[in-house]
Amino acid sequence: MSYFTEENSAQVVIDAMANCDNPRLKEVLSGLVRHMHAAVKEIKPTQEEWTEAILFLTKTGHMSDDWRQEFILLSDVLGVSMLVDAINSRRPSGASENTVLGPFHVADVPVSPMGTNICLDGKGEPMLAQGRILDLDENPIEGAKIEVWQTNDDGFYDVQQKGIQPEFNLRAVFRTGADGRYWFKAVKPTSYPIPDDGPVGQLLAQMGRHPYRPAHFHYLITKDGFETLTTHIFDPDDPYITSDAVFGVKESLMADFVPVDDPERQKEHGFKARYFDVEYDFRLAYAQNGAA
Ligand code: BEZ
Ligand code: FE
Repeated sequence: MSYFTEENSAQVVIDAMANCDNPRLKEVLSGLVRHMHAAVKEIKPTQEEWTEAILFLTKTGHMSDDWRQEFILLSDVLGVSMLVDAINSRRPSGASENTVLGPFHVADVPVSPMGTNICLDGKGEPMLAQGRILDLDENPIEGAKIEVWQTNDDGFYDVQQKGIQPEFNLRAVFRTGADGRYWFKAVKPTSYPIPDDGPVGQLLAQMGRHPYRPAHFHYLITKDGFETLTTHIFDPDDPYITSDAVFGVKESLMADFVPVDDPERQKEHGFKARYFDVEYDFRLAYAQNGAA
């Protein structure tokens, strides 16, 4: 056993776990200790800076509850959420890519008939979203569960404005039929800020960063026998497309939002004026173990 010195600091702490009987926990903590000690040696914080860091984490904890998870936001803005996702969703070529789930997914939303207009507050520019859910051999997937959610035209999710927006505004669940197709009406998404009234918002400002996410809408697609797909579709023309506050943008997840001015097509899809058509096919990877 060695006493703690600046030189051997990480090893002394790792050696103190000799009796840990959880090998994974030991591996995780050893890695963390090694890298944290290396970071401290590189940064050389003053006592005041270290106290400030502890106070920041304390405020982050105080800001977190069932509805507001400031630690997840911290992980998001530092790119850690996207890195963990990248490591855990390596897919074969051709499969649709994952991105962050975000904090606004809601479980147990009722299933709606395909084609439903999920915009319940009447705000924003109408949009028709459509496409197919396919396997990697281009076969349609029947019975896929498609969960979708997006902000309203003011940039807020329904759950951020309870009592202001109708419940389940711009949020729905659909199930594909034998052709694997999906289609629903919603609104053309707009960019919006992630919650920035807490310590993470202050940190973003101090880093010289803005809190905005480029316009997108969310999909969570599940089907037994396939890898679950957690993803978004992005508007490539959004001003924040190259500076997403949470680094969630991927080239493959951009789609064209095509304005439709033809009255015949508008009528065919039940619109009375211009709408935006966005088409995107998702390709699900086969589950590694034969089940999702
Ligand atoms: C979202 O897209 O809903 C989101 C993702 C990460 C942090 C905050 C919001
Ligand atoms: Fe979002």
